[in-house]
Amino acid sequence: MDEPPLHIRPYRDEDLPQLRKITVESFGSVALEQMLEQKYGLWNERDWKVRKASHIDDDVAQCPEGCFVAERGGEILGYITTRLDRVNQRGRIPNLAVVESARGLGLGRRMIQHVLDYMRDEGMKLAQIETMASNAIGQHLYPSCGFEEVARQVHYAMRL
Ligand SMILES: CC(C)(COP(=O)(O)OP(=O)(O)OC[C@H]1O[C@@H](n2cnc3c(N)ncnc32)[C@H](O)[C@@H]1OP(=O)(O)O)[C@@H](O)C(=O)NCCC(=O)NCCS
Repeated sequence: MDEPPLHIRPYRDEDLPQLRKITVESFGSVALEQMLEQKYGLWNERDWKVRKASHIDDDVAQCPEGCFVAERGGEILGYITTRLDRVNQRGRIPNLAVVESARGLGLGRRMIQHVLDYMRDEGMKLAQIETMASNAIGQHLYPSCGFEEVARQVHYAMRL
């Protein structure tokens, strides 16, 4: 039997629990939040999963119309979020994830192309995305979608 088609559609409120689940299952080794926890342990009752999932809460609260999910046969396989700075005509992709079983099939690339078109349609003139130096996939995928490296940032932390 043929697989149902994969399509990218706008985010809906009822998607949030699944987006949070994909986030904590996906971002383990690549999230700054987990690196902080590895280095300092828990510093309050909120672990890296709670903090990272809350980034998605913020994305969908700030710009729900700029969030999209990739769905096949009713199953969400990935998501991408955006923030638009209309004053400066600049769009950012804060978060992007694909479930492990669907990686390497071009879904990440498709979602990026989708939001680049969305940003163009919204009048944005520049698109930005960031990745950790340890994220080899991001450093391959983003330039291959047309992004160019502009600068590197160093994250510092200390116990208080
Ligand atoms: C990043 C992510 C969304 C990509 O999703 P995806 O659907 O697998 O992406 P695609 O299939 O479109 O592209 C992946 C590309 O990375 C390449 N790749 C895979 N593993 C790689 C590795 N270890 N090193 C370098 N490139 C790698 C693939 O070959 C593919 O490139 P190609 O199309 O030129 O062959 C997914 O890996 C993910 O969810 N990762 C965890 C969360 C994350 O890192 N999010 C982004 C934070 S900046």
